[in-house]
Amino acid sequence: MTGAQEWQGRVGHNWAAEWERTDRSFAALTPHLLAAIANEPGERIVDIGCGAGELSLALAKARATAKITGIDISEDLVAAARMRAVGVPSVTFEVADAASWTSADGPADLFVSRHGVMFFDNPPAAFAHLARSAAPGARLVFSCFRAARDNMWASEIARLLPPSKPAVSAPFPPGPFAFADPDHVRTCLSGWRDVQVEPLDFAYVAGSGQNPVADALSFFDRIGPAASAIRTLPDIARASFERGLLDLVQSRHVGGRVCFPAAVWLVTATADNG
Ligand SMILES: C[S@@+](CC[C@H](N)C(=O)[O-])C[C@H]1O[C@@H](n2cnc3c(N)ncnc32)[C@H](O)[C@@H]1O
Repeated sequence: MTGAQEWQGRVGHNWAAEWERTDRSFAALTPHLLAAIANEPGERIVDIGCGAGELSLALAKARATAKITGIDISEDLVAAARMRAVGVPSVTFEVADAASWTSADGPADLFVSRHGVMFFDNPPAAFAHLARSAAPGARLVFSCFRAARDNMWASEIARLLPPSKPAVSAPFPPGPFAFADPDHVRTCLSGWRDVQVEPLDFAYVAGSGQNPVADALSFFDRIGPAASAIRTLPDIARASFERGLLDLVQSRHVGGRVCFPAAVWLVTATADNG
């Protein structure tokens, strides 16, 4: 489970420090999101859970006249996003919980998100709130992971870790796989209609550069399912995990990069308010 508290603390801090490598891991998704909104009208665009702001900045390039607001619950990530957006006046970033955020510029025409909506404590309430902040018939476009078993970077790493007792018994706890079930996504989209859920596959890049294997190992040490587990493992278990991770990463080293197949849903919907 990764909820608001983790993003406001250690997880957000690590993602902000590692924004270049987290961007790289998701970079192949951005053109698909830009294509999905290419024909959506609207000048007031909100990037939900914008993180270090890559999608917001890509939107600013693609939509010269639009005003883009990135909102995120992590102060560290918003600070990283603001640093990157110096000199881009059409983009602003706010520290805010999407479930209670209010627009200073009037209702939004278009909500977008690259993997920023799976961490809400109460998704139906958060999406209903966003629908109330939307212009009549505003559109929503977001990506989210499909099941862990379809995302080798997560399932193969989890297989190397000792089994752990689930911390919560909720069926869809906030976290990277909270929206793996498309029926659950539809249930969560309170206040939105015409929901479409389409599968999309992309290459999750974990390592590149001079030594892609070492790069991927240090990336997984900081980000993702292994990062917190590694620290709590006893020495013997950690050594065995690290050997397994090295084998896994080496097996995915092809053409100067360490890549894993990743599987997402591309979700679109219309605000049910006009
Ligand atoms: C997986 S990261 C994706 C970040 C960014 N969209 C990207 O593609 O790099 C999830 C983001 O959602 C943010 N987040 C989680 N819960 C949130 C909430 N309730 N309101 C706003 N942002 C939230 C986190 O702080 C984090 O930046």
